[in-house]
Amino acid sequence: KFSIVIAGGGSTYTPEIILMLLDNLDRLPLRSIKLYDNDEERQNHVAKACEILIKEKDPTIQYVATTDPEVAYTDVDFVLAHIRVGKLEMRSLDEKIPLKYGVVGQETCGPGGMAYGLRSIPGVLENIEYMEKYSPNAWMLNYSNPASIVAEACRRFKPNSRVINICDMPIGMEHTIARILGFKNRKEMCIRYYGLNHFGWWTSIKDKDGKEYIQDLIAHQLKYGNCLADDDASHYTDSSWFDTAKKVKDIIAIDPTMCPNSYFQYYLFGDDMVAHTDPNYTRADQVVDTREKRVFGECARIEKVGTAKDTTLQIGIHAEFIVDLATALAFNTHERMLLIVPNNGAISNFEKDAMVEIPCIVGKDGYEPLTVGEIPHFQKGLMEQQVNCEKLVVDAYEQHSYLKMLQALTLNKCVPNANVARKILDDFIEANKAYWPEL
Ligand code: G6P
Ligand code: MN
Repeated sequence: KFSIVIAGGGSTYTPEIILMLLDNLDRLPLRSIKLYDNDEERQNHVAKACEILIKEKDPTIQYVATTDPEVAYTDVDFVLAHIRVGKLEMRSLDEKIPLKYGVVGQETCGPGGMAYGLRSIPGVLENIEYMEKYSPNAWMLNYSNPASIVAEACRRFKPNSRVINICDMPIGMEHTIARILGFKNRKEMCIRYYGLNHFGWWTSIKDKDGKEYIQDLIAHQLKYGNCLADDDASHYTDSSWFDTAKKVKDIIAIDPTMCPNSYFQYYLFGDDMVAHTDPNYTRADQVVDTREKRVFGECARIEKVGTAKDTTLQIGIHAEFIVDLATALAFNTHERMLLIVPNNGAISNFEKDAMVEIPCIVGKDGYEPLTVGEIPHFQKGLMEQQVNCEKLVVDAYEQHSYLKMLQALTLNKCVPNANVARKILDDFIEANKAYWPEL
């Protein structure tokens, strides 16, 4: 049986991830679940409810919520890392500062993500160091954002660490693709995909007999985006994800040869995004007012009544990759999964030392990437711009360099020119005083 620590215990996603782990004990048997956060107050919103969820499912599983890294990281097999340095409060500024200058903020690949990256890198490295000190044989399944920048920092500063960088976005999208194409389960599909995190494309969707569906998918998306039919919102309770689902129609019209990650709406249609965003109320505010209220409220209710038997909390199916990945590492299943890994020639006409998101085979020694081959000019151009922008953020962190950060923001696809880049950077520096290295 295995022992797990969730780093970033106070996340709104924690209870849903625990429910998912508890639902999969037959695949991944657990002896211990720990929550770790450096913010006790925030973690307390979910800690007691998580204890009740676990006790009611399997009282033999040990549980602790702690702010002590030694307690958290001692005797664990898997670290599930989803930390958010600066929390949603700082995400809000990541989104709002660029908007002041008419630029879409975007908290992962846009300028907001560059600011967030500079905050995240030291936090992620610190957690890797705890793991190496207290449980050197553990694996870290890292889905802390901004995933591409964090992955580049891991490649550069912790090249031999047992860290696997992964994102839930492709899983969510594959549920949608399966629904559109009429598959019962996304695992009935064998897919090909390449790109950077939140910045890639599906190029093939085959069934078990090898029949190709990508053209059917593209034809559907050109008409309906990621909706099942015109304006069908049945799978999107969250209004901003519904808007995204519709916007995919415009994204795919730019290149109807492959199926894009919906995040391209920010890079290709920043002007439309800005026009539809209230500069004083962004996605961060929405998440606080909806997901955070809902999850923390329900956790408080569970704590009060002392039972979770009528809970409205749901299993985080978007997080099924966690069980798949941990199971693949623990039991050598050779499952095929999309991971963020050094390119190393997998995409033959792309830089070797870029962190790319591509299919890999996962077993007990880690991952083995599959080859992709040559990619077309449009995708290559977009990816080169983005990957260099992300590398510059890591340079800025490493060298405490204002100039590198200015170059990163100037290169970012969402930012129109160097004047605006400088203004955004100067505001970011002011806002991030408590988090960034001095540039
Ligand atoms: C997807 C991405 C995550 C991202 C999340 C943002 O799940 O893969 O990396 O954090 O969306 O969603 P939110 O609801 O916080 O805007
Ligand atoms: Mn992601």
